[in-house]
Amino acid sequence: MVNPSKNQLIQIRNLTKRYEKLIAVDNLSLEIGQSEVFGLLGPNGAGKTTVIHMLATLLNPTSGSATVNGFDILEDPEKVRSSIGVVFQVPSSDDLLTGYENLKIHALLYGVKPDVREKRISAALELVGLTERKEDQVKKYSGGMRRRLEIARGLIHNPKVLFLDEPTLGLDPSSRETMWKYIQQLVKQEKLTIILTTHYMEEADMLCNRIGIIDKGKIIALDTPARLKSMLGGDIVKLKLKQDSNTDALKNLECISKIESVDGYLLLSVDDAKRNIPEILKHVEVESVEATSPTLNDVFLKLTGRPIKEQAEGGFMERYVQYDKH
Ligand SMILES: Nc1ncnc2c1ncn2[C@@H]1O[C@H](COP(=O)(O)OP(=O)(O)OP(=O)(O)O)[C@@H](O)[C@H]1O
Ligand SMILES: [Mg+2]
Repeated sequence: MVNPSKNQLIQIRNLTKRYEKLIAVDNLSLEIGQSEVFGLLGPNGAGKTTVIHMLATLLNPTSGSATVNGFDILEDPEKVRSSIGVVFQVPSSDDLLTGYENLKIHALLYGVKPDVREKRISAALELVGLTERKEDQVKKYSGGMRRRLEIARGLIHNPKVLFLDEPTLGLDPSSRETMWKYIQQLVKQEKLTIILTTHYMEEADMLCNRIGIIDKGKIIALDTPARLKSMLGGDIVKLKLKQDSNTDALKNLECISKIESVDGYLLLSVDDAKRNIPEILKHVEVESVEATSPTLNDVFLKLTGRPIKEQAEGGFMERYVQYDKH
Protein backbone atom coordinates (compact mmCIF):
# COMPACT_ATOMS: atom_id res chain seq x y z
CA MET A 1 0.00 0.00 0.00
CA VAL A 2 1.38 3.38 -1.02
CA ASN A 3 0.30 6.77 0.32
CA PRO A 4 -0.20 8.91 -2.74
CA SER A 5 1.47 12.31 -2.68
CA LYS A 6 -0.12 15.22 -4.52
CA ASN A 7 2.97 16.24 -6.49
CA GLN A 8 3.90 12.78 -7.64
CA LEU A 9 1.49 11.46 -10.22
CA ILE A 10 3.06 8.03 -10.13
CA GLN A 11 4.60 6.43 -7.08
CA ILE A 12 6.19 3.02 -7.36
CA ARG A 13 7.29 1.14 -4.27
CA ASN A 14 9.37 -2.03 -4.37
CA LEU A 15 7.54 -3.25 -7.45
CA THR A 16 8.62 -6.79 -8.34
CA LYS A 17 7.56 -9.28 -11.00
CA ARG A 18 8.89 -12.81 -10.98
CA TYR A 19 8.42 -15.50 -13.59
CA GLU A 20 9.58 -18.58 -11.70
CA LYS A 21 13.33 -18.06 -11.37
CA LEU A 22 13.45 -15.00 -13.61
CA ILE A 23 13.05 -11.62 -11.91
CA ALA A 24 11.66 -9.43 -14.71
CA VAL A 25 11.25 -6.37 -12.46
CA ASP A 26 13.37 -6.26 -9.35
CA ASN A 27 12.23 -4.21 -6.37
CA LEU A 28 11.71 -1.04 -8.36
CA SER A 29 10.94 2.24 -6.56
CA LEU A 30 10.37 5.44 -8.47
CA GLU A 31 8.34 8.66 -8.45
CA ILE A 32 7.18 10.52 -11.53
CA GLY A 33 5.78 14.04 -11.30
CA GLN A 34 3.06 15.92 -13.12
CA SER A 35 3.83 16.86 -16.76
CA GLU A 36 7.04 14.88 -16.84
CA VAL A 37 8.08 13.02 -19.96
CA PHE A 38 9.79 10.13 -18.27
CA GLY A 39 11.77 7.57 -20.24
CA LEU A 40 12.57 4.00 -19.28
CA LEU A 41 15.61 3.24 -21.40
CA GLY A 42 17.09 -0.22 -21.53
CA PRO A 43 17.99 -3.18 -23.73
CA ASN A 44 15.69 -6.03 -24.82
CA GLY A 45 14.37 -7.96 -21.87
CA ALA A 46 15.26 -5.25 -19.33
CA GLY A 47 11.72 -5.25 -17.91
CA LYS A 48 10.31 -2.08 -19.51
CA THR A 49 7.07 -3.56 -20.84
CA THR A 50 6.54 -5.48 -17.62
CA VAL A 51 6.71 -2.21 -15.64
CA ILE A 52 4.20 -0.53 -17.98
CA HIS A 53 1.83 -3.49 -17.83
CA MET A 54 1.86 -3.53 -14.05
CA LEU A 55 1.25 0.25 -13.86
CA ALA A 56 -1.56 -0.10 -16.41
CA THR A 57 -3.09 -2.88 -14.24
CA LEU A 58 -2.77 -5.48 -17.01
CA LEU A 59 -0.39 -7.59 -14.99
CA ASN A 60 -0.31 -8.20 -11.25
CA PRO A 61 2.99 -7.61 -9.46
CA THR A 62 4.49 -10.46 -7.47
CA SER A 63 5.11 -7.96 -4.67
CA GLY A 64 5.27 -4.23 -4.08
CA SER A 65 2.76 -1.67 -5.29
CA ALA A 66 2.20 1.63 -7.03
CA THR A 67 -0.25 4.47 -7.32
CA VAL A 68 -1.15 6.13 -10.61
CA ASN A 69 -3.04 9.44 -10.42
CA GLY A 70 -3.45 8.73 -6.72
CA PHE A 71 -5.15 5.37 -7.32
CA ASP A 72 -3.61 2.15 -6.10
CA ILE A 73 -3.02 -0.31 -8.94
CA LEU A 74 -4.13 -3.24 -6.78
CA GLU A 75 -7.01 -1.62 -4.90
CA ASP A 76 -8.47 0.67 -7.57
CA PRO A 77 -7.54 -0.84 -10.93
CA GLU A 78 -10.63 0.49 -12.71
CA LYS A 79 -9.96 4.06 -11.62
CA VAL A 80 -6.34 3.66 -12.70
CA ARG A 81 -7.45 2.38 -16.10
CA SER A 82 -9.91 5.20 -16.73
CA SER A 83 -7.25 7.83 -16.01
CA ILE A 84 -4.52 6.43 -18.27
CA GLY A 85 -3.98 5.90 -21.97
CA VAL A 86 -1.75 3.06 -23.15
CA VAL A 87 -0.03 2.61 -26.47
CA PHE A 88 1.22 -0.96 -26.57
CA GLN A 89 4.47 -2.23 -28.02
CA VAL A 90 2.37 -4.38 -30.36
CA PRO A 91 -0.27 -2.29 -32.21
CA SER A 92 -3.77 -3.40 -31.31
CA SER A 93 -6.08 -1.38 -33.58
CA ASP A 94 -8.53 -3.31 -35.75
CA ASP A 95 -7.09 -3.55 -39.27
CA LEU A 96 -10.44 -4.00 -40.98
CA LEU A 97 -11.99 -0.87 -39.47
CA THR A 98 -11.16 2.69 -40.47
CA GLY A 99 -9.07 4.96 -38.29
CA TYR A 100 -12.21 6.87 -37.33
CA GLU A 101 -14.11 3.68 -36.42
CA ASN A 102 -11.28 2.49 -34.21
CA LEU A 103 -11.35 5.76 -32.30
CA LYS A 104 -15.15 5.70 -32.01
CA ILE A 105 -15.17 2.19 -30.55
CA HIS A 106 -12.54 3.20 -28.04
CA ALA A 107 -14.56 6.30 -27.09
CA LEU A 108 -17.66 4.14 -26.57
CA LEU A 109 -15.73 1.59 -24.51
CA TYR A 110 -14.41 4.33 -22.27
CA GLY A 111 -17.80 5.98 -21.89
CA VAL A 112 -16.86 9.28 -23.54
CA LYS A 113 -20.10 11.30 -23.48
CA PRO A 114 -21.92 11.68 -26.84
CA ASP A 115 -21.86 15.51 -26.72
CA VAL A 116 -18.04 15.62 -26.70
CA ARG A 117 -17.27 12.38 -28.54
CA GLU A 118 -17.01 13.67 -32.12
CA LYS A 119 -15.02 16.72 -31.02
CA ARG A 120 -12.52 14.55 -29.17
CA ILE A 121 -12.14 12.16 -32.10
CA SER A 122 -11.53 15.04 -34.52
CA ALA A 123 -9.04 16.72 -32.19
CA ALA A 124 -7.12 13.47 -31.66
CA LEU A 125 -7.00 12.76 -35.42
CA GLU A 126 -5.78 16.28 -36.05
CA LEU A 127 -3.12 16.01 -33.35
CA VAL A 128 -1.55 12.94 -34.96
CA GLY A 129 -2.00 14.16 -38.56
CA LEU A 130 -4.54 11.55 -39.64
CA THR A 131 -7.61 13.67 -40.42
CA GLU A 132 -7.21 13.13 -44.16
CA ARG A 133 -6.91 9.36 -43.77
CA LYS A 134 -9.61 8.80 -41.16
CA GLU A 135 -11.97 6.98 -43.56
CA ASP A 136 -9.28 4.52 -44.72
CA GLN A 137 -9.09 1.01 -43.31
CA VAL A 138 -6.16 0.70 -40.91
CA LYS A 139 -4.69 -2.11 -43.02
CA LYS A 140 -3.94 0.57 -45.62
CA TYR A 141 -1.92 2.64 -43.15
CA SER A 142 1.88 2.69 -42.97
CA GLY A 143 3.61 1.50 -39.79
CA GLY A 144 4.09 5.10 -38.63
CA MET A 145 0.43 5.97 -39.25
CA ARG A 146 -0.72 2.92 -37.28
CA ARG A 147 1.39 3.98 -34.33
CA ARG A 148 0.03 7.51 -34.55
CA LEU A 149 -3.52 6.15 -34.60
CA GLU A 150 -2.71 4.21 -31.42
CA ILE A 151 -1.63 7.44 -29.77
CA ALA A 152 -4.86 9.15 -30.87
CA ARG A 153 -6.79 6.21 -29.42
CA GLY A 154 -4.91 6.47 -26.16
CA LEU A 155 -5.94 10.13 -25.87
CA ILE A 156 -9.67 9.87 -26.64
CA HIS A 157 -10.83 9.60 -23.03
CA ASN A 158 -8.65 12.52 -21.93
CA PRO A 159 -6.22 10.61 -19.70
CA LYS A 160 -3.83 12.31 -17.31
CA VAL A 161 -1.08 9.80 -17.96
CA LEU A 162 -0.09 8.31 -21.29
CA PHE A 163 2.10 5.21 -21.46
CA LEU A 164 3.97 4.75 -24.73
CA ASP A 165 5.68 1.38 -24.95
CA GLU A 166 8.38 1.65 -27.63
CA PRO A 167 6.49 4.24 -29.70
CA THR A 168 8.87 4.02 -32.66
CA LEU A 169 9.85 0.36 -32.65
CA GLY A 170 10.00 -1.04 -36.16
CA LEU A 171 9.74 2.37 -37.84
CA ASP A 172 12.25 3.56 -40.40
CA PRO A 173 14.38 6.57 -39.40
CA SER A 174 12.24 9.14 -41.17
CA SER A 175 8.94 7.84 -39.70
CA ARG A 176 10.67 7.77 -36.34
CA GLU A 177 11.52 11.45 -36.64
CA THR A 178 7.94 12.24 -37.67
CA MET A 179 6.73 10.36 -34.61
CA TRP A 180 9.07 12.37 -32.37
CA LYS A 181 7.57 15.59 -33.74
CA TYR A 182 4.06 14.39 -32.93
CA ILE A 183 5.05 13.36 -29.43
CA GLN A 184 6.73 16.73 -28.84
CA GLN A 185 3.62 18.50 -30.11
CA LEU A 186 1.50 16.37 -27.82
CA VAL A 187 3.62 17.35 -24.83
CA LYS A 188 3.23 21.03 -25.74
CA GLN A 189 -0.52 20.96 -26.33
CA GLU A 190 -1.86 18.56 -23.74
CA LYS A 191 -1.18 18.70 -20.03
CA LEU A 192 -0.08 15.11 -19.94
CA THR A 193 2.41 13.06 -18.03
CA ILE A 194 4.09 10.66 -20.42
CA ILE A 195 5.99 7.52 -19.55
CA LEU A 196 7.70 6.06 -22.54
CA THR A 197 9.92 3.06 -22.91
CA THR A 198 12.58 2.78 -25.54
CA HIS A 199 15.87 1.17 -26.31
CA TYR A 200 16.75 3.97 -28.73
CA MET A 201 19.03 6.25 -26.78
CA GLU A 202 18.53 9.25 -29.13
CA GLU A 203 14.80 8.93 -28.61
CA ALA A 204 15.12 9.05 -24.83
CA ASP A 205 17.63 11.89 -25.06
CA MET A 206 15.45 13.99 -27.34
CA LEU A 207 12.01 13.45 -25.80
CA CYS A 208 12.48 12.89 -22.08
CA ASN A 209 13.11 15.38 -19.31
CA ARG A 210 14.17 12.50 -17.04
CA ILE A 211 15.39 9.01 -17.78
CA GLY A 212 15.59 5.83 -15.76
CA ILE A 213 18.14 3.49 -17.27
CA ILE A 214 16.87 -0.02 -16.64
CA ASP A 215 18.82 -3.26 -16.87
CA LYS A 216 17.81 -6.72 -15.67
CA GLY A 217 14.74 -5.33 -13.93
CA LYS A 218 16.61 -2.68 -11.94
CA ILE A 219 16.93 1.07 -12.43
CA ILE A 220 20.68 1.56 -12.52
CA ALA A 221 20.71 5.33 -13.12
CA LEU A 222 18.05 8.02 -12.87
CA ASP A 223 18.48 11.65 -13.90
CA THR A 224 18.09 14.21 -16.67
CA PRO A 225 19.74 13.20 -19.95
CA ALA A 226 22.32 15.99 -19.54
CA ARG A 227 23.29 14.94 -16.01
CA LEU A 228 23.48 11.26 -16.97
CA LYS A 229 25.90 12.12 -19.74
CA SER A 230 27.92 14.37 -17.47
CA MET A 231 28.64 11.26 -15.35
CA LEU A 232 31.26 10.51 -17.97
CA GLY A 233 33.29 13.60 -17.09
CA GLY A 234 32.15 15.80 -19.96
CA ASP A 235 33.01 15.84 -23.65
CA ILE A 236 36.03 14.12 -25.16
CA VAL A 237 38.46 16.32 -27.08
CA LYS A 238 40.98 14.41 -29.19
CA LEU A 239 44.14 16.35 -30.10
CA LYS A 240 46.87 15.40 -32.57
CA LEU A 241 49.75 17.44 -31.25
CA LYS A 242 52.47 19.06 -33.33
CA GLN A 243 55.83 17.50 -32.55
CA ASP A 244 57.44 18.92 -29.44
CA SER A 245 54.29 20.69 -28.31
CA ASN A 246 54.42 21.00 -24.55
CA THR A 247 51.24 19.94 -22.73
CA ASP A 248 52.16 20.97 -19.20
CA ALA A 249 49.89 24.02 -19.23
CA LEU A 250 46.82 21.82 -19.84
CA LYS A 251 47.14 20.34 -16.36
CA ASN A 252 46.22 23.69 -14.86
CA LEU A 253 43.05 24.23 -16.90
CA GLU A 254 39.94 23.85 -14.79
CA CYS A 255 37.77 22.69 -17.68
CA ILE A 256 39.91 19.55 -18.16
CA SER A 257 39.25 16.70 -15.74
CA LYS A 258 41.37 13.95 -17.33
CA ILE A 259 44.29 13.74 -19.78
CA GLU A 260 45.28 10.48 -21.49
CA SER A 261 47.69 9.59 -24.31
CA VAL A 262 46.18 6.97 -26.65
CA ASP A 263 47.59 5.88 -30.04
CA GLY A 264 49.54 9.08 -30.60
CA TYR A 265 46.57 11.27 -29.65
CA LEU A 266 45.91 13.24 -26.51
CA LEU A 267 42.41 12.57 -25.15
CA LEU A 268 41.01 15.22 -22.84
CA SER A 269 37.84 14.96 -20.77
CA VAL A 270 36.49 18.48 -21.06
CA ASP A 271 33.52 20.22 -19.53
CA ASP A 272 31.56 21.92 -22.37
CA ALA A 273 34.06 21.39 -25.20
CA LYS A 274 32.39 23.87 -27.54
CA ARG A 275 33.03 26.73 -25.17
CA ASN A 276 36.45 25.66 -23.93
CA ILE A 277 38.31 24.48 -27.05
CA PRO A 278 39.53 28.01 -27.92
CA GLU A 279 41.08 28.28 -24.44
CA ILE A 280 42.70 24.85 -24.74
CA LEU A 281 44.19 25.73 -28.12
CA LYS A 282 45.94 28.73 -26.62
CA HIS A 283 48.14 26.34 -24.64
CA VAL A 284 49.12 23.64 -27.16
CA GLU A 285 50.09 23.48 -30.81
CA VAL A 286 47.95 20.99 -32.68
CA GLU A 287 47.64 19.40 -36.09
CA SER A 288 44.02 18.40 -35.57
CA VAL A 289 41.17 18.67 -33.07
CA GLU A 290 38.05 16.51 -32.76
CA ALA A 291 35.36 16.80 -30.12
CA THR A 292 32.64 14.28 -29.28
CA SER A 293 29.88 14.42 -26.72
CA PRO A 294 29.03 11.30 -24.75
CA THR A 295 25.78 9.53 -25.58
CA LEU A 296 23.41 7.66 -23.30
CA ASN A 297 24.83 4.50 -24.82
CA ASP A 298 28.23 5.49 -23.41
CA VAL A 299 26.54 5.91 -20.03
CA PHE A 300 25.00 2.42 -20.30
CA LEU A 301 28.35 1.01 -21.38
CA LYS A 302 30.08 2.57 -18.40
CA LEU A 303 27.45 1.25 -15.98
CA THR A 304 27.11 -2.28 -17.34
CA GLY A 305 30.13 -2.95 -19.57
CA ARG A 306 27.68 -3.67 -22.45
CA PRO A 307 26.15 -1.45 -25.15
CA ILE A 308 22.38 -1.00 -25.47
CA LYS A 309 22.00 -2.97 -28.67
CA GLU A 310 19.95 -1.31 -31.37
CA GLN A 311 17.89 -4.23 -32.49
CA ALA A 312 17.02 -5.04 -36.08
CA GLU A 313 14.15 -3.02 -37.49
CA GLY A 314 10.70 -4.37 -38.14
CA GLY A 315 10.80 -7.43 -35.93
CA PHE A 316 8.37 -6.42 -33.25
CA MET A 317 5.62 -8.87 -34.19
CA GLU A 318 7.98 -11.74 -33.40
CA ARG A 319 8.50 -10.34 -29.93
CA TYR A 320 4.83 -10.50 -29.01
CA VAL A 321 4.32 -10.12 -25.29
CA GLN A 322 1.47 -11.96 -23.64
CA TYR A 323 -1.04 -9.79 -21.85
CA ASP A 324 -2.70 -12.38 -19.64
CA LYS A 325 -2.53 -11.55 -15.96
CA HIS A 326 -0.61 -13.91 -13.71
N1 LIG B 1 4.74 -13.99 -19.71
C1 LIG B 1 6.04 -14.15 -19.44
N2 LIG B 1 6.53 -15.32 -18.96
C2 LIG B 1 7.84 -15.49 -18.66
N3 LIG B 1 8.77 -14.53 -18.80
C3 LIG B 1 8.35 -13.33 -19.27
C4 LIG B 1 6.98 -13.08 -19.62
N4 LIG B 1 6.87 -11.81 -20.06
C5 LIG B 1 8.12 -11.29 -20.01
N5 LIG B 1 9.01 -12.19 -19.53
C6 LIG B 1 10.46 -11.98 -19.32
O1 LIG B 1 10.63 -10.85 -18.49
C7 LIG B 1 11.77 -10.11 -18.88
C8 LIG B 1 11.38 -8.69 -19.15
O2 LIG B 1 10.55 -8.65 -20.30
P1 LIG B 1 9.95 -7.29 -20.87
O3 LIG B 1 9.04 -7.62 -21.99
O4 LIG B 1 9.40 -6.48 -19.75
O5 LIG B 1 11.28 -6.56 -21.41
P2 LIG B 1 11.43 -5.24 -22.27
O6 LIG B 1 12.43 -4.38 -21.55
O7 LIG B 1 10.10 -4.66 -22.55
O8 LIG B 1 12.11 -5.78 -23.59
P3 LIG B 1 11.93 -5.33 -25.12
O9 LIG B 1 12.86 -4.16 -25.32
O10 LIG B 1 12.38 -6.54 -25.87
O11 LIG B 1 10.50 -4.98 -25.35
C9 LIG B 1 12.34 -10.82 -20.10
O12 LIG B 1 13.40 -11.66 -19.68
C10 LIG B 1 11.17 -11.64 -20.62
O13 LIG B 1 11.59 -12.79 -21.28
MG1 LIG C 1 9.11 -4.23 -24.25
